[in-house]
Amino acid sequence: MRVISQSTTADLDAAPRARRRRPAARSLTGEDLTLRAAYRLCRRTTRQHDPAIHALIQLMPAVLRPAGWALWAAASVLDDLADQRDAEPAERAARVEAWTEALQHDLAAGTSTDPVRHALVHTALRWRLDLSGLQGAMISTRDDVHGRRFADWTEWRAWCNEGITPWVDQVRHLFEQAGAPMTLRLDRRVDYERFIDGAQLTDILTDLGPDLGQGLLLLPQEALDACPGAEGDLRQGRWSPATAALIGAMTDLARQWVTRPAMTTGMHPGAATVLDTSACLLRAQLDAVDAAGPALLKRAPRPSLVARARILTPARIRSRLAWSLTPLTVPGPRRPAVNASGPSPAAEDTALRPPPPRPDGARPPQIDADRMPSHVAIIMDGNGRWAEQRGLPRSEGHRAGTAAAHEMVYGALEIGLRHLTLYAFSTENWKRGTEEITTILEAIRRDLDEGPIRDLDVRQRWSGRPGKLPEELVRALMREERRTHARTGLTLTVCINYGGRDEITRTAAALAQAAQAGDVAPHLISEDDFARHLPHPDMPDVDLLWRTGNEQRTSNFLPWHATYAELHFTPDHWPDVDRRDLWRAITEYSRRQRRHGAALPSPPLRRSPRN
Ligand code: FPP
Repeated sequence: MRVISQSTTADLDAAPRARRRRPAARSLTGEDLTLRAAYRLCRRTTRQHDPAIHALIQLMPAVLRPAGWALWAAASVLDDLADQRDAEPAERAARVEAWTEALQHDLAAGTSTDPVRHALVHTALRWRLDLSGLQGAMISTRDDVHGRRFADWTEWRAWCNEGITPWVDQVRHLFEQAGAPMTLRLDRRVDYERFIDGAQLTDILTDLGPDLGQGLLLLPQEALDACPGAEGDLRQGRWSPATAALIGAMTDLARQWVTRPAMTTGMHPGAATVLDTSACLLRAQLDAVDAAGPALLKRAPRPSLVARARILTPARIRSRLAWSLTPLTVPGPRRPAVNASGPSPAAEDTALRPPPPRPDGARPPQIDADRMPSHVAIIMDGNGRWAEQRGLPRSEGHRAGTAAAHEMVYGALEIGLRHLTLYAFSTENWKRGTEEITTILEAIRRDLDEGPIRDLDVRQRWSGRPGKLPEELVRALMREERRTHARTGLTLTVCINYGGRDEITRTAAALAQAAQAGDVAPHLISEDDFARHLPHPDMPDVDLLWRTGNEQRTSNFLPWHATYAELHFTPDHWPDVDRRDLWRAITEYSRRQRRHGAALPSPPLRRSPRN
């Protein structure tokens, strides 16, 4: 990963640079020029389609702007393909589908002959974006060609969520990759969703006239019915008191949805400026819709240049200051093996890496195979205290704890452990502050997206319930489970929103269902039957349960699997341990005598010498 400051972005940037001096020592290759032209086209497309979006992208750090243009241009191209009135809906749907399929192919190849896809593929590789999340949005755009009708706001929101949110999420991911995350506090997720709904509603109101010209009225029936007569008038292009009332109600609603001041609380000030400014621009757009009156049915209204300048001038100053304070990062290059439906495990696994060696050259001890545990489970305790002892916020302890988790994975691979299970977030951890919860869950999600474990021979899976977990995290967990399922090295199970009693209760419920269905006879239920109904029936018993942080409890962790586990408690806080501590724990385990309830074999009897 490279750390860059704003002033050193020029050499990395594929942005157009009409006004930039070209480095004298470096001549541009044909590929550089093609890429630059591709990004330039994306920028033009964004500016022509949506000047407000273009202005917002200008508030991003220079190094991220080309990625912003590429994402926006791709979304616009797809929209245009779906909208081309020269073709029948089926033909338009086929065009969207062909573009989407070509993108998958181009992602795998790492380049494209189409300029917009070329820029998008470059963006995805450079910023390690997983574009598989856009698949649903592209399908939604394809299906838009048949027109849309929504009975109520719930249906309308589902459409908005499917078609728009994944694109916005890519932009959020971009910020994260650059080290300036648009982290949303968990309790702000609803605000974020409402904000996106508001942006979409604003867009629909702006384009009402052109859309009606194509027979489209993208408002839910529920809203249309609330203003009797408005729908008929609109469809006939008639401005009336009913249509005015409908538009007024809709702009009020959109204004309410985009006004979410708490959404950016605690966010990086640069990222917050982008979001806050977009809220201001949306409100200005809604003012223009309100002011348009009957003209709204003819053309899309735009806010005046003065209104825009009043918003953008201070925003530019704020964002420049905010980004100048932050060193941004560019992740290392990535192989072009990612495609929009996810890389094939086979393609990925040809590039599996060994774990990085310890800097001090330490190697794992030799443990006899029959003394080696199969399954080590760890309660990673002490992150908070580690941070507090250093005068740092607890969240720093969790960040440092993530590095210790990587160390354990390296150590497990090196010593040849088959199963490692980590307790990352319990069902009881929801009692912590929102900030801390967000940090832990974000650290895990980031790790899934870009962490160093991705390319090791590790089959990753998750134990726990989705419940209140952020949807993105759940998606990332499931994606990694799918992506790594064929790996044969270490099985790493990360317990997130996991509770042992909850696991047992769920298993009991599954068994009860099986009994009701006649699959098992209640009076014959055995331990094996129970184990077969656990969420991960193939997880072996825990041989060694290790807890750091100087506490001696098992805290609702793997009660079924750990009944016979050897317990190992150590005083160090989790961020202070490394793979050598795992090897010590395994060495100590290998010396223990495990009896599983049996009696100690009697020492051989000494024969007394016969007289
Ligand atoms: C317990 O320490 C630790 C946690 C609740 C979070 C553990 C999560 C991680 C280390 C991230 C894991 C990342 C991956 C990649 C699996 P504590 O906060 O209870 O510490 P304290 O007892 O000192 O307060």
